[in-house]
Amino acid sequence: MWAEHATSAGSAGSAGSAASATDGADAPALSGPFRFGDRVQLTGPKGRMNTITLEREAEFHSHKGMIRHADIVGLPDASVIANSSGEEYLALRPLLSDFVMSMPRGAAIVYPKDAAQIVSLADIFPGARVVEAGVGSGALSLHLLRAVGPEGEVHSFERREEFAEIARANARAYAGADPANWWVRVGDLQQELPNALAAGTVDRVVLDMLAPWECVDVTADALAPGGVVICYVATVTQLSRTVEQLRRSGRFTHPQASETMVRGWHVEGLAVRPDHRMVGHTGFLVTARKLAPGTNLPSLKRRASKSDFSEADMASWLPDMGPDGDPGAWSEESVGQRVKSDKILRKKAREAQRIAEHRAGVDAAGAPAAPETTDHAGA
Ligand SMILES: C[S@@+](CC[C@H](N)C(=O)[O-])C[C@H]1O[C@@H](n2cnc3c(N)ncnc32)[C@H](O)[C@@H]1O
Repeated sequence: MWAEHATSAGSAGSAGSAASATDGADAPALSGPFRFGDRVQLTGPKGRMNTITLEREAEFHSHKGMIRHADIVGLPDASVIANSSGEEYLALRPLLSDFVMSMPRGAAIVYPKDAAQIVSLADIFPGARVVEAGVGSGALSLHLLRAVGPEGEVHSFERREEFAEIARANARAYAGADPANWWVRVGDLQQELPNALAAGTVDRVVLDMLAPWECVDVTADALAPGGVVICYVATVTQLSRTVEQLRRSGRFTHPQASETMVRGWHVEGLAVRPDHRMVGHTGFLVTARKLAPGTNLPSLKRRASKSDFSEADMASWLPDMGPDGDPGAWSEESVGQRVKSDKILRKKAREAQRIAEHRAGVDAAGAPAAPETTDHAGA
């Protein structure tokens, strides 16, 4: 786990995460019998799910009975336990994907299906130095941290302090402490990245933001030759704008674009068919690789030539391209994203903080604390 990593945190940047690096004490286990401090997902008779943190003196109550946390400790993961009235509950350690789907959110998160593609398409490898912006709720950060492993580094940049706070608290709640190899810097990537990391020293850059095209130059400067940039965008217009900017920069290979659709299946006896419902759309991914300095990419024969479309055509499609472009045309609202009020963000930050603090309290002292559960039905 990240927390077991003896870190070189200070050397990579000073403006970094509030993250005081953890020394590895009480890091939650990812496998093995349940221990105090572990988070456990309990699924009851009606399929309703609750997540609890195991504490010495605590009890989990439903309206029909209760389970003492101490009775769960020592059971193997994926055990069934009966409550005081004989109702059975399945006890499972949440997977990373379970955790990110139920954690408090400030901004929209990258779903596990896209996070998996990002890790694969961007070739996020153990030991890699990865830059990420923005952090949002920290869902993708958790996947990146897992993929780089204890020898890797994740440097995350976020414009808004409230989001950074939610993300840090979510990571603490998941990992039991601040990950030692994670730096969260508050500020715009364009300003902060050149101050934080030396040019040409980054293996991968992951951009999940409204206008990734604004960060193409700073990304190209940071990446080592052959390094991968991957951008996650929600709309076709953002996809097109990002690809055009990567191309125009002349510093990347031809960009590749894709989307990922995952359709669940209902498999029961002879009733074997796709699920009736699915997540129809989340976002698109664009990847490209940084060219070595001074390299000119050979042009592809099948590519449209400049004479096939004009600057005016581009401007009619992409609001800030062309001679009279309007960069102000791009906003969260104009691409259809819901924007949460400051009041809701503060509430989410408090909720994430409460879960993280609760867990840290249990880990450190093993003492009873105020009851805390996440009820997934109501989450
Ligand atoms: C959709 S959220 C990211 C969600 C995140 N990947 C997750 O999985 O939880 C986009 C974030 O990017 C941030 N952002 C947008 N432009 C940025 C920039 N130029 N530099 C740093 N952060 C930026 C926004 O404040 C917002 O929090």
